[in-house]
Amino acid sequence: MKVLLATQKPFAAAAVKGIKEIVEAAGHELVTLEKYAEQADFVAAAADADAIIVRSDKVTAEVVEAAKNLKIVVRAGAGFDNLDLAACTAHNVVAMNTPGQNSNAVAELAIAMMIFMARTQFTPATGTEIQGKTIGIQAFGNVGRLVGKKAEALGMKVKAIDPFLTAEQIIAGGAEPAASLEELYSSCDYVSIHIPATPQTIKSIGYDIVTKMPKGATLVNTARKEVIDEEGLAKALEERTDLKYITDVAPDNLAELQEKFGLRVFATPKKMGAQTSEANVNAGLAAARQICDFFATGCTKFQLNK
Ligand code: 3PG
Repeated sequence: MKVLLATQKPFAAAAVKGIKEIVEAAGHELVTLEKYAEQADFVAAAADADAIIVRSDKVTAEVVEAAKNLKIVVRAGAGFDNLDLAACTAHNVVAMNTPGQNSNAVAELAIAMMIFMARTQFTPATGTEIQGKTIGIQAFGNVGRLVGKKAEALGMKVKAIDPFLTAEQIIAGGAEPAASLEELYSSCDYVSIHIPATPQTIKSIGYDIVTKMPKGATLVNTARKEVIDEEGLAKALEERTDLKYITDVAPDNLAELQEKFGLRVFATPKKMGAQTSEANVNAGLAAARQICDFFATGCTKFQLNK
């Protein structure tokens, strides 16, 4: 079988080597397409692939339709808003992700960005400490729980909310359950967002909820830019000159935000939450193993389009 590794943002060399070893040991062939310039390059490369591994690369209906031999697509990572699941289902393609494999890298970045912002983006201006502050985790999944653990170790009080978890499950994960999203935002110095981009969550965080945050608060987004109502956020930052926004998923209006709000807004130049060698190896090798297992035994653990 031909396995295509299509990554516009390439994996670390160690991950690519490990993926190749797994695929070849199972008797398959690995083809790589890295740093491609156009979506058309991905569509063309997919034409004879039996399996595809991607990161945030867009597996559109066009890709799925072009890939006549395609049987399985694995998103090496957590969020699968880049996969057209309906198109996969329509063409009998199994779609999977690799939940949890890159979570630690994202959680470390969330904490790093909080400290970076608390210390005035490493300028000489007087900053603050995160010890003794309260962090609210919006969605207490793999990444959210790790952010909570690390924040607690740094002396923060940890609160969380998750529509899919009971209060007991949140307590068991080491956080105090918030009664509502409003309560989370209004009682936390930092709110760290870990929700996926879905029709329900897109543009769900805007002016009303952000302005509930207490004086001097910071909103941290290592999830998806789409969950932010960018106009609402800009309005909130305009009115509340004490609020800050740090993100690993730059908003479309970043230039406007940075011009207006200077050091109160920070965005990484390119999404880098999962960009560690360890996360690349964990997620990449998991994806390769899932594909080989699927071909060998029909295993569909982690299938998203059931
Ligand atoms: C994920 O959903 O796993 C993260 O956002 C990482 O995405 P990336 O593989 O494009 O860096």
